[in-house]
Amino acid sequence: MSTWNDNFSFKATHTRPSPVREILAVIKQPGMISFAGGMPAPEVFPVEEFYESAHLLKDKGTELLQYGTTDGNVELREFLTEFMQPRLGRKVGMDEIFLTTGSQQALDLFSWAMLDPGDVVITEDPSYMAAITVFMNHGGVCRGIPCDADGILVDKIPPLIESLRAEGKKVKFLYTIVNFQNPGGMTMSVERRKKLAEIAEKYNIGIFEDDPYGYVRYEGDHLPSIFSFDKVGNVLYAGSFSKILAPGTRTGWVIGDPAIIRKMCVFKQSTDLCSSSVDQALVADYCKKGYLTQHLPAIIANYRKRRDFMEESMKRHLAPLGVTWVKPQGGFFYWIDVPGVNTDQLMRRALDKKVAFIQGSAFAVEEGACIHNARLNYTYCSNDVIEEGIKRIAAAIVELKAEAEGIKA
Ligand SMILES: Cc1ncc(COP(=O)(O)O)c(C=O)c1O
Repeated sequence: MSTWNDNFSFKATHTRPSPVREILAVIKQPGMISFAGGMPAPEVFPVEEFYESAHLLKDKGTELLQYGTTDGNVELREFLTEFMQPRLGRKVGMDEIFLTTGSQQALDLFSWAMLDPGDVVITEDPSYMAAITVFMNHGGVCRGIPCDADGILVDKIPPLIESLRAEGKKVKFLYTIVNFQNPGGMTMSVERRKKLAEIAEKYNIGIFEDDPYGYVRYEGDHLPSIFSFDKVGNVLYAGSFSKILAPGTRTGWVIGDPAIIRKMCVFKQSTDLCSSSVDQALVADYCKKGYLTQHLPAIIANYRKRRDFMEESMKRHLAPLGVTWVKPQGGFFYWIDVPGVNTDQLMRRALDKKVAFIQGSAFAVEEGACIHNARLNYTYCSNDVIEEGIKRIAAAIVELKAEAEGIKA
């Protein structure tokens, strides 16, 4: 017997694998249709335009192949301060922004800076499971607040903070995915964004505003960020190139008060020293040529079609079975409600029929939440694959319902 199991850390024995990553192995089976991941469509990657920047490896090779600074490529940070200005309400300074290895790393660095074991993080319920896992890895305890079509029910936040404080608990920050939430698909209203900034100020807590999907909007106007309503510097905004350019760039950014930015950078020094200088230089060159702003309408048009196709397909096959959903105005996911059906069971039955999705319970923050929900990704599959996958899910629902009726009878 090897030594490892006897000597794992407390953290290692308590961490949980990601259901999405776990399911990836199953998804690779021949004939499997997957609505499970959150992956962009590879056919929309701007391969040619991105490759144009490859000359930099020769022209600036000695610089690019060296270690970079921890806060990241200056040109890319400058580009982002301009690009983000409308959403943030002002042009932020260079001491308010740094680059990360995807926004996933921002979650980890933020947790290093903020969480001691037992500290409470308030989140939307459901929420992005890989963020919840990061908070838990750092000893955080997550408490979920339900959401409706306008996002988190903000009025429920102050009483929760007060009752947790009465129990002697420390509430450190609130985590929200403001636009086209993962998994719920909803977008927080402007009113609630304002209210959240006020709550953060009143209760002296931070807000982690995670926004990887914000630029993938199919209709309606872009909304101002929570950051733009923040008067005291309590909001940290995280963005990413994963969904708007390519996740393989592993490039994200964080914007916030210099106090938290500096602390996160110090943790980054010991996490990975710096993100890849090569990736950042290629992304910077691509963005500076204006390609990002040209590319966005193309991916939006492409994904809008897929969303609309899934909508029609679900109307044909799932609506007659009582399944409901809210049409997302952007992002990557449908969040469906399958009344009377446990979606853990449905997921297993669907896998037998060679279609994968993620069951709602995987995103639940509070015990027992979301057992009738499922998250379906529409950005990855082609139309005919979407149609076939939805049909298979419908067949799985019909079977489970018939079995349940049989048991009752
Ligand atoms: C809400 C949310 N935050 C963060 C991430 C991490 O993205 P990345 O590290 O690729 O930027 C994802 C990825 O799916 C996500 O959905």
